[in-house]
Amino acid sequence: MAANKKLLVLPGDGIGPEVMHEVRRVIDWMDRRRALSFEIEEGLVGGGAIDAVGSPCPDETVEKAKAADAVLFGSVGGPKWDSLPFEQRPELGILRLRKDLGLFANLRPALVMDPLVEASSLKPDIVRGVDIMVVRETVGGIYFGEPRGVETLPDGKRRGFDTDVYHEDEIARVARVAFDLARKRRGKVTSVEKANVMQSGRLWRAVVGEVQKAEYPDVALENMYADNCAMQLCSRPKQFDVILGNNLFGDVLSDLAAALTGSLGMLPSATLGAVDPATGKRHALYEPIHGSAPDIAGKGIANPCAQMLSFAMLLRWSFGLEEDAALLETAIEKVLAGGLRTADIMQPGMARVGTSVMGEAVLRELDKLAA
Ligand code: IPM
Ligand code: MG
Repeated sequence: MAANKKLLVLPGDGIGPEVMHEVRRVIDWMDRRRALSFEIEEGLVGGGAIDAVGSPCPDETVEKAKAADAVLFGSVGGPKWDSLPFEQRPELGILRLRKDLGLFANLRPALVMDPLVEASSLKPDIVRGVDIMVVRETVGGIYFGEPRGVETLPDGKRRGFDTDVYHEDEIARVARVAFDLARKRRGKVTSVEKANVMQSGRLWRAVVGEVQKAEYPDVALENMYADNCAMQLCSRPKQFDVILGNNLFGDVLSDLAAALTGSLGMLPSATLGAVDPATGKRHALYEPIHGSAPDIAGKGIANPCAQMLSFAMLLRWSFGLEEDAALLETAIEKVLAGGLRTADIMQPGMARVGTSVMGEAVLRELDKLAA
């Protein structure tokens, strides 16, 4: 039997617990059928944690996350907590975990699965075969830069400000993640910024270029302004392999890339820290990109695929279990090819199902594939 793998599961708010439930069944299946032994802990995060202990990211959760080999995260937030002060937002749950665990590289694949080509709002010809990996910096830039705040001026008017700041080492380390990925993919990185208007963007472009020249001459680098990238993503998405961006541009462009695929309900992500040279390990957190979707929470209709695919990324990235990751991905694709759809990806002629039926169908496909 394989060595224990310590997982921290943080279901969070909204549809998080519902879709996580389906992943727990996949984990049980893997325990049974593949003899992967997981040691699972659960923790509090987001609005639920605010209600229970008064903080969106309790110290205990951070400690558990640091002790785990990997964190599987659901989603946080909802209308119930929308009016809390800025310092108490449920979103701080994920932001603090990223920061405290040093999770600087967020990998967001936007893959158009063949059975879902028609689910995109773009023409099938434009999106068929799209396979993009957005690499987003997640512990720096305008999300954390100081000074920030809203101040009241002597005339009584308010002034709000944030700071977009990057040290060259922060740029270089996330650029290396993008170049390494491109090497295993189609060998191209598109680095986005606004070097035409932002000083930090100017440095971003310079440093990414230096890293490429010195360490990755075999990878093609293209620099693109972030606004142009948004336009190109909608018109010619197939030109992209890896897109590299800072925290803010990466946030926006990864949603856009995700939308090309037809459903946020299908997309996973991984956020990785640096490899510890002593142990060879790295902190890592895996989460679907759809968020807590409060409008459909509690109805049993959420799509569990993104959370399951996040678990597949966890198997691949944290444990090197490529075969098991691919097995789960194939099972999901087969279920879709068989015509089952949750509401978010429903198309004419397909069979509409809820969260648990979708989950069961994936388990059945896993049984068949493993037989
Ligand atoms: C994301 C989300 C978060 C972000 C929010 C929930 C803080 O939009 O993961 O993309 O902006 O990073
Ligand atoms: Mg976002």
